Amino acid sequence: MDSYEIRGGTRLSGELRASGAKNAVLPILAASAMIPGETVLDHCPDLADVDNMCRILTHLGCRIRREGETLRVDASRLHCCSVPEELMKSLRSSVFLAGPLLSRCGQAILSTPGGCAIGKRPIDLHFLGLTALGASVTEREGRLFCRSGRLRGTEIRLDYPSVGATENILMAAASAVGETVLTNAAREPEIVDLQNFLNGCGAQISGAGTSVIRIRGTGKPLRSCRYRIMGDRVEGGTYLMAAAVTGGTVTVRDLDPVWLGAELAALERMGCRVERSLPGECEPFVAIRGPQALRSPGFVRAEPWPGFSTDLQSPLMALCTVAEGTTVIEDTVFENRFQCAGELRKLGAVIRVNGRRAEVTGTAPLAGTTVTSGDLRGGAALVLAGLAARGKTIVENICHTDRGYGKFDIVLKELGANIERRDVNERERRGETTGVSEE
Ligand code: EPZ
Repeated sequence: MDSYEIRGGTRLSGELRASGAKNAVLPILAASAMIPGETVLDHCPDLADVDNMCRILTHLGCRIRREGETLRVDASRLHCCSVPEELMKSLRSSVFLAGPLLSRCGQAILSTPGGCAIGKRPIDLHFLGLTALGASVTEREGRLFCRSGRLRGTEIRLDYPSVGATENILMAAASAVGETVLTNAAREPEIVDLQNFLNGCGAQISGAGTSVIRIRGTGKPLRSCRYRIMGDRVEGGTYLMAAAVTGGTVTVRDLDPVWLGAELAALERMGCRVERSLPGECEPFVAIRGPQALRSPGFVRAEPWPGFSTDLQSPLMALCTVAEGTTVIEDTVFENRFQCAGELRKLGAVIRVNGRRAEVTGTAPLAGTTVTSGDLRGGAALVLAGLAARGKTIVENICHTDRGYGKFDIVLKELGANIERRDVNERERRGETTGVSEE
């Protein structure tokens, strides 16, 4: 079991460039399966989830080559529309293959996806949208058999602004015949990135980033394009919080401050000084200087964008454990996203969880000990707590953080953190080969 060994107390300082966004590259990789040609994606992060998505695409018959941060996905010889259960379970985003395979092949054979155990995470809204477009879905022995003739544009209203369902519907509707109007769509920046990618491939989509998205389906296949993935706002926000909790000064480039409006406002309430690049500035950045001592941000509600991101809720909880005062955090998105609270308590944190609410009372410095990561962002929260704690903290089971933070320890070390990775075998961490030939 891999782990991080952290000795807290050093102030972080320096600058980094946000990686390509995990939650943007995953749907865009899935969308590349729709395209009978080579898609070139720049600024792709080096993450376990990306490896797993590449395994799925390779299984379907795509040829993938990685050249540094560029992934070349040639889907011209895609010959399979069935994703094995073990690959479906390797990540939540495997469900994003539904729309692209229905669009490309008229069928898709899937299972319920994997992903962090942060709630029930049903996929009913995905299939509500796909059936509205003309697909039929039957479930047999845990497998989902999706079939469609020609997908046809229609009006779809989501009961909840689901990010994944919005993305699956966009991909399916992009080459359907006729216009689709999707209302109550999710507004996250990663959906704008997917829209921009699909439009670069010849789709005609408008409105991403708002609740109403129009997709003018041409009925024709999309064409190859080259696209640069947006910066990862969750990764970038995590490093900004690492600076905040250590009283350090960190700049994150390739990070648009517009993507983190609610999060930066909370950090300013906590006493941080935040510098933002101006709109339209050639290279966006966010710089933060943490205070000597953090103050509670008061009440924080995690909700769909532009609200406070549920993906930064756990990292913020870590900060609140050492912030003066009491913070109430509510997560309206996932019903089970306070798992890291129990591990933070082992470090001395004072946290009371009641359903979707957690009350965090800032205390004297935390004391290092051994804790175990249970999910991706909870693991990041434990690392942040270790950076602030006295003595040595060991965070075990960091396979979770590998899914969303590339070279987490190396980046933190470059910022001055005293952190070492203890892993049994580098290749073992990445599983057997990914099917991606290294250039
Ligand atoms: C995406 O997950 C992200 N993952 C998550 O990031 C993120 O936390 C989430 O959006 C919310 O922003 C990727 O993009 C790969 P949802 P997704 O569909 O698509 C309910 C991370 O840490 N729901 O918006 O699964 C669901 O139960 C990950 O990077 C339905 O009821 O999120 C949940 O309560 C974690 N039916 C809520 O909506 C559905 O069909 C949010 O889910 C779909 C969702």
